[in-house]
Amino acid sequence: MTRRKLVAGNWKMHGTSADLTEVRAVAEAAAQLGERVDVALCLPATLIHRAAEAVPGFAIGAQDIHMADRGAHTGDVCAAMLHDAGATLTIVGHSERRDAHREDDAAVRAKAEAGLRSGLKVILCVGESDAERESGRAVDVVTGQLRASLPQVHVTTATFAVAYEPIWAIGTGKVPSTADIAEMHGALRRTLVESLGGEGNGVRILYGGSVKGSNAAEIFAVPDVDGALVGGASLKAMDFLPIVEAAA
Ligand code: G3P
Repeated sequence: MTRRKLVAGNWKMHGTSADLTEVRAVAEAAAQLGERVDVALCLPATLIHRAAEAVPGFAIGAQDIHMADRGAHTGDVCAAMLHDAGATLTIVGHSERRDAHREDDAAVRAKAEAGLRSGLKVILCVGESDAERESGRAVDVVTGQLRASLPQVHVTTATFAVAYEPIWAIGTGKVPSTADIAEMHGALRRTLVESLGGEGNGVRILYGGSVKGSNAAEIFAVPDVDGALVGGASLKAMDFLPIVEAAA
């Protein structure tokens, strides 16, 4: 099955209004590539509204949402608010949230369902630690995370993607071998098909962890790699666009 690649940037806790020039540059270049590749930038919540107004039609995303639709949750932001601000997608279950905010699989599942309920597309992250990889348990850990955090509602290629992000590869410059990426993405594909039936073949599985312009083409050539979730190299258009072009 052919799946159009999706390259999404995750700015994490970086960026102010001065950086909207980078968003504009990415959106303009993505428009030139037309339907060859899907491109998105997941920005800090504070930038979403301004970015969405600055680049209409370009996919602006959030990095996290609350699992509830509204309520007494001081300091939190729900999916409907982000959708209202102009976001069309959100990341859930990033390892930095699972770790620093103690989000378990049940919470991640609830967030994925909340996003879909409010009309946001969802990128659900899974990934193993260094110790889990070293002990040979990576595939079991990561497919287990996916089973336990997969939303229990109908999803499609258009509304849902998975991102495999080995924790030890995030921001470290370390990247798994293409054989290890292929093994993990193959296992995630089988898990998606077991859980979702035929629809599981359409769900995109992104790779994330130290993706750069110099390694993107090799990673995108791996079977079942349907794009990338990019951290550090998404902050500047000049670093991000070569990754986008490698996917187009
Ligand atoms: O969500 C993207 C991310 O965690 C990978 O970060 O900086 O290794 O590309 P980076």
